[in-house]
Parts: sequence; structure tokens; C-alpha cells
Amino acid sequence: MKVVISLSGIFFEDATRIKQMAEVLEEIAKSYGLYIVTGGGKIARERIKIARALGANETICDYIGIAVTRVNAKLLISALRSAHPEPFSAYNEVAGAGLGEEARISVMGGVSPGYTTDAVAAILAEYVNADLFIDVTSVDGVYDADPRRYPEAKKYDKLTAKELVALTAKEELKAGSRIVIDPVAAKIIERSRIKTLVIDGNNPRDILNAVQGKHHGTVINPE
Ligand code: UTP
Repeated sequence: MKVVISLSGIFFEDATRIKQMAEVLEEIAKSYGLYIVTGGGKIARERIKIARALGANETICDYIGIAVTRVNAKLLISALRSAHPEPFSAYNEVAGAGLGEEARISVMGGVSPGYTTDAVAAILAEYVNADLFIDVTSVDGVYDADPRRYPEAKKYDKLTAKELVALTAKEELKAGSRIVIDPVAAKIIERSRIKTLVIDGNNPRDILNAVQGKHHGTVINPE
């Protein structure tokens, strides 16, 4: 079974957290083909804000975000024993490298302007024919509004991919925007029909539980 995991940039802000995350990922990789995509988090948003203030356009801001996601990919690789030694920068490189005995985990950051690492992970999941895609964020699922800003927001336990597309279509796709799942990712999830979970990763062991079918997040089913 192949699993693709998108890890929000929030999990790369200190060594302890990265180490805890890496331990759980190593455990998952004992039983599953594992592909990780790392987000850019606060640092990406801060750098993008500075670039925008200097007059950079959205594509340049996106490239700055991508650079930060790749730094986080390197940080994660530093904490893993069985990852390919360099982050991949294109989907076909990942598939070409395969998952061998020594390197059981593939890690990559961002790829191209116009979307976020959620979309990268969704495309990678489609490309490698993953059985499961898990979007690991700092909130415990998909809500009808950002729960960090609107405490009365309602959480969905399950959604169809079509409902997810409708929900995310109204989101703004500016560089560094904080949306739980980006609209490009939602469209890819819809077309690939890959089962998707959106879960909270603040306790990294919950990722292992989710791979094994136990979670309190949102399930996105093809129908
Ligand atoms: P993230 O995937 O981290 O975005 O990429 P995010 O939604 O802020 O996610 P969190 O906070 O980590 O969960 C950071 C920025 O990098 C650019 C985008 O501008 C994105 O907002 N990016 C990333 C791209 O343009 N293309 C990519 O493939 C990846």
C-alpha cells in the first residue's frame, strides 16, 4: 500500500517536533510505501510578505514559498534514517527513484507556482497511484470557515470530492494564503478518486493511527 502525506509547514519550526514526526514516519514506512511533501509554514508566509512589500509579483512570491518548502524537506530528511538523501523537485524523479530497501521514504517540497504543497501531494498521490492521501495540518479537519478565525465554524466528518471542490472554489489562491486545502488540490483529489483524509498532526502518533484507519479528521470520498 502506498501513502502520500502532506505535512504543513507548522511542523518544521523546531527540532523536537521534526524528530517526533520523523520517528512516526519511519514506523509507517516499515509497512507502507511512503511519500512526504513538506509545507513552508510561517517562514514562507513571512518571506512572501517581505517580497510582496518589495513589489514582487505573485509568481515570484510563490517561488520564494517553494524555496522554503524545500528547506523544510531537507530538515525532515536530516531527521530520517531511510529517506532518499535529497528532496525531489519533480514528480517523475520520485517515481523513477522508487522505494528501495535503503531509501524507503521519498520527500519533496513545492514544485511550481500557482498552488500549494497540498496540490503537490495530491498530484504525487495520483502519479504514484497511492491508495491513501493524508493532509496533515494544524486543524482537525475541513471546516466551512477557518476555525482559527471563526470559532463557530462547522467541521465536516466526511465530504465527497465534489463537495470539497465547491467548498474550496471560493478561496483566494494568493502566495502564502492560509487555506486548509487548496482548490487545485481539491480538483486533483476529485479527478484521481484517491481516498483522502484531513487530520490534525499536533500529536504525530495520530498520523500512524490515521494510516491504520483511526482518526477524528475529515474523510473525502470519491462519491
Ligand atoms: P505551503 O504548501 O506551505 O502553503 O507553501 P500553505 O498553504 O501556507 O501551507 P502551510 O501553512 O505550510 O500548511 C507555501 C507557499 O509556497 C508557494 C505558495 O505561495 C504557498 O502558499 N508554493 C508552494 C507554490 O507556489 N507552489 C508549490 O508547489 C508549493
